[in-house]
Amino acid sequence: MHDDLDEILFTEEEIRAKINELGKQLSREYRDHDLVLIVILRGAVVFLADLTRTLEVNAMIDFIVVTRYGYADRPGQLKILKDLDYPIEGKHIIIIEDIIDEGYTLYHLKEALLLRKPASLKICALFDKPARRKTSVRPDYVGFTIPEKFIVGYGLDYKQRFRNLPYIASLKQNLDLLE
Ligand code: IMP
Ligand code: MG
Repeated sequence: MHDDLDEILFTEEEIRAKINELGKQLSREYRDHDLVLIVILRGAVVFLADLTRTLEVNAMIDFIVVTRYGYADRPGQLKILKDLDYPIEGKHIIIIEDIIDEGYTLYHLKEALLLRKPASLKICALFDKPARRKTSVRPDYVGFTIPEKFIVGYGLDYKQRFRNLPYIASLKQNLDLLE
């Protein structure tokens, strides 16, 4: 394991088993619908790649890049850096996200996408940290609910590092010490 990592919280096998469960559930619930998966770049791409291969329903995939502007105490709005390529009006969409923390990103994205009148809009997050939530957003489908820890691996980064790890781990030191 990498020197900066503290412990492995979820192994490759545990993640795979959980994603298989999610895939089964989504395949059941969207059996009669055309599904569009909206992926927020970049952290969620690893999750997307594994999740799509467990789906038994046809799913279109589209990508969006967003950034939050404003300060920590004034979270402000969401800026769309790269919009979806296709319209979503009348479509059944699921936003695929790696992790929900304070919830601002998804809160604002959900508001923005609802204006486009999808038939339905749900959120599927692999990880949820509800203890830190500052908005009313909650995932409709969730892999793991975790405590207030900063995690990396399986697509999730700390300053663009550790995305490549096949497992999920916590960082050894206080984040500030890693600067
Ligand atoms: P929030 O829900 O608006 O606070 O932001 C969620 C985003 O913050 C996620 O999409 C991640 O990019 C990032 N994030 C939050 N918690 C973690 C973590 O524990 N590890 C890695 N990235 C995280
Ligand atoms: Mg992210």
